[in-house]
Amino acid sequence: MPDRVLVCVAWPYANYLLHVGQAAGAYLPADIFARYQRLRGNEVLMVSGSDCHGTPITVTADREGISPREVVERYHPKILEVWERFGISFDLFTTTLTENHYAVTQDMFLRLLEKGYLYRRTDEYLFDPEVGRFLPDRYVEGTCPYCGYTEARGDQCDNCGKTLDATELRDPRSKLSGARPVLKPSEHFFLKLSAFEEPLREWVSRQPHWRRNVQNFTLGMLNEGLKDRAITRDISWGVPVPVPGFEDKRIYVWFDAVIGYLSASKEWAQTRGEPEAWRPFWQDPATRSYYFIGKDNIPFHTIIWPAMLLGYGGLNLPYDVPANQYVNFAAGQKQSKSKGTGTWMLDLLDQYHADVIRFYLTTIMPESNDSVFSEDELIRANNDVLIGTWGNLANRVISMVHRNFDGVVPAVSSRSPESTALLAECEAMFDAVGDELERCHFRGGLQTALQLAQSANKYLDERAPWKAVKTDPDHAAETLVTALDAINALKTLLHPVLPFSTEQLHADLGQEGTVRAQGWRFRPMQPGTRLGPVRPLYTKIEPREAAEA
Ligand code: MF3
Ligand code: ZN
Repeated sequence: MPDRVLVCVAWPYANYLLHVGQAAGAYLPADIFARYQRLRGNEVLMVSGSDCHGTPITVTADREGISPREVVERYHPKILEVWERFGISFDLFTTTLTENHYAVTQDMFLRLLEKGYLYRRTDEYLFDPEVGRFLPDRYVEGTCPYCGYTEARGDQCDNCGKTLDATELRDPRSKLSGARPVLKPSEHFFLKLSAFEEPLREWVSRQPHWRRNVQNFTLGMLNEGLKDRAITRDISWGVPVPVPGFEDKRIYVWFDAVIGYLSASKEWAQTRGEPEAWRPFWQDPATRSYYFIGKDNIPFHTIIWPAMLLGYGGLNLPYDVPANQYVNFAAGQKQSKSKGTGTWMLDLLDQYHADVIRFYLTTIMPESNDSVFSEDELIRANNDVLIGTWGNLANRVISMVHRNFDGVVPAVSSRSPESTALLAECEAMFDAVGDELERCHFRGGLQTALQLAQSANKYLDERAPWKAVKTDPDHAAETLVTALDAINALKTLLHPVLPFSTEQLHADLGQEGTVRAQGWRFRPMQPGTRLGPVRPLYTKIEPREAAEA
């Protein structure tokens, strides 16, 4: 029986271009995982979409003098372009502006209200006396009450990661006018997070497979005690509050965005003409759901969304939330999406083959610590490792088969102990690499697979088929076929990380169909197979001038 896996990926705000930090932190790991699970023959649903509401979008709209919808219309297509060119294989990447999403969000709101998990309360909120508007979330900045960071936003502190209410900020200042906000009463709906403290603690303690930092951050929040949080805002852009008297307010962006995982699954099911097909992904307790996010998103995925799911009832909680740390830049500057600095994916894709970027970003994936991105390192990884260890191996062997055996896989009658040992390593790699990928250790999975490439290189060098072919063609044939077997295994083992080039290699190895259709298993080459043309998989990149050293 195939397993069923739901792959949820953080919804990027549709107000800026995607940058390298997001790609390495959430989208690439999610994609590697989804491709691996599909190769295993498991049923995978991978969803996300543009996060279109809230102050991130309206602040951009205000700044540029356009409507929030125009902001989304400008950036959503560019996000889709990145998925296409970078090979992020979503089953559905939608937006939070759909009618379906509004309906699913309002249904969740009303059910939580009916079950007593939402209540209304009037409090005082920050208000800009100069422009006459409330200042929710990102309309206000100030000092974090927890860590003292002076640039904290009204929704979250970028420094310590805590979620905030704008009124908690010390020395708040309006982003609209710079004025010091005054307090003004307003009525809002609150999510009764306090009611979920015990169930969440109990649930979190049953997740030993979570990353240590995710577990610790979550337990830390629970130990400090959960405060109920306002989930509506004085703002005109967002999902309407389905309660009379709240026409001028909207649902808080984070409340609707996390519901996106569910609404997108329903949209996917509707689009494929099987409106009930989302159910097993959400209601069968055997389904595992993974949430790929950056660490700033942890509280929303291990506390708030699980609380909403528990309150709603009958839907699966996350199985794992493999949140990543940050990618820093060689200069030591943090890649910040809210501040708009960093390396844009579209620029990078203009310069480098998608698989080269995927390869390098996998080697620096910030799984347990912040990591550093450097273009010089990307070039070095391409030249020395991707080509040096892997691309050349495939190329040399395919060329030799063309040169010496007319491009047809020769038959071999017996295999020497070295050959048998290499074949055994190929076989064992499917478990070894699979184990790593299964546990969301993508760096480790790639390193493990590359060990097989190293063994194959060593094997080739020792057996020197280019010499043997003159004196002992059978020996050379055995070597080349065994090396081809290893290359064919590596094609599959590396496919989740390098989908484009391994698909090309699949054709060059003279195989039908797709890598995915062959599945996650070792398949020795069939004698008589006619190989495709000799084409390099990657091209060497000239190191850059040491200009900005
Ligand atoms: N838009 C948020 C961000 O970029 C992530 C939202 S993830 C979701 O930080 F769960 F809310 F969808
Ligand atoms: Zn802080």
